[in-house]
Amino acid sequence: MTADPGDGDGRSIDRNISRKFWEQRGALADDARSTTLDSEPGWWVRYNVRLYQHWLLRHLDAGSAPWGQVIDVGCGNGDWTAVLAQRATNVVAVDFSQSLLSAVERRLGARGLADNVTFVHSDAAAFEFPPDCDLIVLGAVLQYLDDRETEDVVNRAARALSPRGHLYVRTTTARRQAVIRNCTADYQAIYRAPGWFEERIRSTGLTIEAVTTGTYVLADEPLHRLVGRRLWPTLGRGLAAPLRLLRRAQRMRKDTEVHHWLCRHPDPERHLPAGA
Ligand SMILES: C[S@@+](CC[C@H](N)C(=O)[O-])C[C@H]1O[C@@H](n2cnc3c(N)ncnc32)[C@H](O)[C@@H]1O
Repeated sequence: MTADPGDGDGRSIDRNISRKFWEQRGALADDARSTTLDSEPGWWVRYNVRLYQHWLLRHLDAGSAPWGQVIDVGCGNGDWTAVLAQRATNVVAVDFSQSLLSAVERRLGARGLADNVTFVHSDAAAFEFPPDCDLIVLGAVLQYLDDRETEDVVNRAARALSPRGHLYVRTTTARRQAVIRNCTADYQAIYRAPGWFEERIRSTGLTIEAVTTGTYVLADEPLHRLVGRRLWPTLGRGLAAPLRLLRRAQRMRKDTEVHHWLCRHPDPERHLPAGA
């Protein structure tokens, strides 16, 4: 990982390298780490992914979010698509890696979860969102897009939301620097500061309903699962506080973090005009 020297634009992704990298991951799709790229044991990675999903689902459930049309951009090995497909009327799973997309179709099909899923082989930057989406998931995909592409995707996603729809963004962020380029001959990613994303999200007119980090999800969600929604504000949060401190201390040495944002229209009655 190299810090951006700050000269030039330094913010572009070599798509050929990126596509090749993700094409190769399709062969590993049955392993949770195929798309998270973690080096920890598979069971731990699966547990973490479940906690991340728990954070999203509990926030959506708290607001009785609608589950009509859902878009999963950069669907990876389908571990998120499977969860979305069990709730939504329709899911569109988008990825520029044909091998991963085929693996998702196979994996979901084997579990009887593919009937309401459409698989679209497309670059995120070129994908045209259908109107009236109840949930758009940009899960760990924006770090593989250039700045301008990221802005454009976030903008177009915001405008494709239904009045009560949500945009969920999760991405690796830079903790201490404005930007970290992790661009090698094999792998291409850009980690930007959380404030950069927040500015872009707010500039679309969406409001950030909830925000957290991977560090806090791992402290909060096990306790939320234990005490439930009713006891979370009084008991759960208090119990999670020491765990949060511990997790923060563990994270201190890292240059990156994972941010999660759940966004929606500030006023569902007056949602953003499509294509504006
Ligand atoms: C880190 S994985 C994330 C998978 C899943 N969304 C998750 O949250 O775990 C990144 C995924 O984005 C896909 N991807 C990367 N760049 C892309 C692009 N420009 N267009 C479409 N998909 C892309 C990769 O093929 C891979 O499946």
